[in-house]
Formats: sequence, structure tokens, C-alpha cells
Amino acid sequence: MRPLIAGNWKMHGTLLEAGALAEGVRAGAAGARAELLVCPPFPYLVPVGGALGADIALGGQDCHAREKGAHTGDVAAAMLQDVGATYVILGHSERRADHGETDAMVRSKAEAALAAGLVPIVCVGESEAQRLAGDAETVVTQQLDGSLPDGFAAAGGVVAYEPVWAIGTGRTPTEAEIAAIHAAIRANLEGRFGTPGGGLRILYGGSVKPGNAKAILALPHVDGALVGGASLAAADFLAIAAGV
Ligand code: G3P
Repeated sequence: MRPLIAGNWKMHGTLLEAGALAEGVRAGAAGARAELLVCPPFPYLVPVGGALGADIALGGQDCHAREKGAHTGDVAAAMLQDVGATYVILGHSERRADHGETDAMVRSKAEAALAAGLVPIVCVGESEAQRLAGDAETVVTQQLDGSLPDGFAAAGGVVAYEPVWAIGTGRTPTEAEIAAIHAAIRANLEGRFGTPGGGLRILYGGSVKPGNAKAILALPHVDGALVGGASLAAADFLAIAAGV
């Protein structure tokens, strides 16, 4: 399967910076083996989509579970689709923490994304305390069971494993630990969805940098990366993508 390298810009940048970053990614993207995806803040989706061009995918960082209506401050999946997005990140640990998103809420959002024709990227991952208690695999499995909707595999959904303690910290699990969780995710997907689950992409996220990307991306069942901080520099993002 074609690896996916996704940049999650989170709540960073200005309009000018977003445009320049998108231009920089586009300028270096030709010939990339990986599929590239950029997920800017909502206000920058349209200009960034224009600057990225047709060969780099555009995604949102969240969507509402409802199709439309009186939900001040929220964004519908169909709106993302309308402005050219093809993916949406859902259930990121920052949203689970900042907005109290539960597995059930993430699942409803993923259903809305599927209904709008978007590919959901559903994030799962354990806290440091859960890792230290030896519960990482159990936590991730429970999150998958609760967060993934039934139509997930048929739509080519993506799972991102992001250990909470590795996000923005410069720390990562060992390669063996990453491989073990990715194998468990694959087994879960195959168990629930059968053969299609074997064809879904599982991304690793959490302090992915040019210096560690190649080794992480070479691990079994690591089909790409969800990149935060390093996606804010075009050269770093492209260097990570060159590691597949
Ligand atoms: O969604 C990507 C993210 O949470 C990882 O962030 O800054 O550790 O690459 P970072």
C-alpha cells in the first residue's frame, strides 16, 4: 500500500505563513513515493488547498458529528469536503483532552465523515501512566473498538497510533514497542473487518523527525506518519516523507 505522510499543523501559523509553508511543501513534493497530506487550521483550508495543488491532499483537524445545524463554532464534514478536503483527523488526544471527546463521540464524527465522503484518520494512543502500567495495548484496543464505525474499512479509513506522552516531547517508544502496538492494531482491524482490515493504513505519530522517521517507517505495519511539529517546516516534512 502507498504510505501516507500527514502533516497536522494544529493551531499554528498565520495566513501568510500557512501559504508559504504550503508552497514549500508543493515545491519539494514532486516524485514523492508517499502520499502527502496537509491538515491546516480551518481558516486556512482554502488558501492552503490552492497552494498545495492537486497532487497533495488536504484534510481537516476535526469535524462535527451532525450534518449541519445550530452548532456555533463547529465545522461540518460536508464543509470540509466542499473546500477540497479528502481526509479528516478525528479523536486526536488533544481534542480528547481539550474537548472531552469520548470514543463514542469520535465514532459519531467518523460516521459523519464517511457520510460526507471523507476518509477519517482516527487517532488512538495511551498516556504515560497507562504505558507504565503495562496497559498500552489494552487501551489502544478499547479505543479502536469504541471509535471506529462499521463502514471504516470499506472507506479505506486510517488509524493513527499516537502515544500521548510522545506528542511534542521529543520522546518516542522503542522501535519494538511501536511494532508491537502496530501489530496489535492490525490484528484488531483484521479481527473486526476481515481482509479489508489488513489493507488499511496505520500511521505512527509522536515526535517523528527527519532523524528517526526512516527507522520508524521501516517497521512492520507502520504505513506512514502523522507529523506535528516537524510538519511546520517544509524541509523537515519532505525529509520525513523521503524516508519511506
Ligand atoms: O498529530 C500529530 C502529533 O500529535 C504529533 O505531534 O509534534 O510530536 O510530531 P509531534
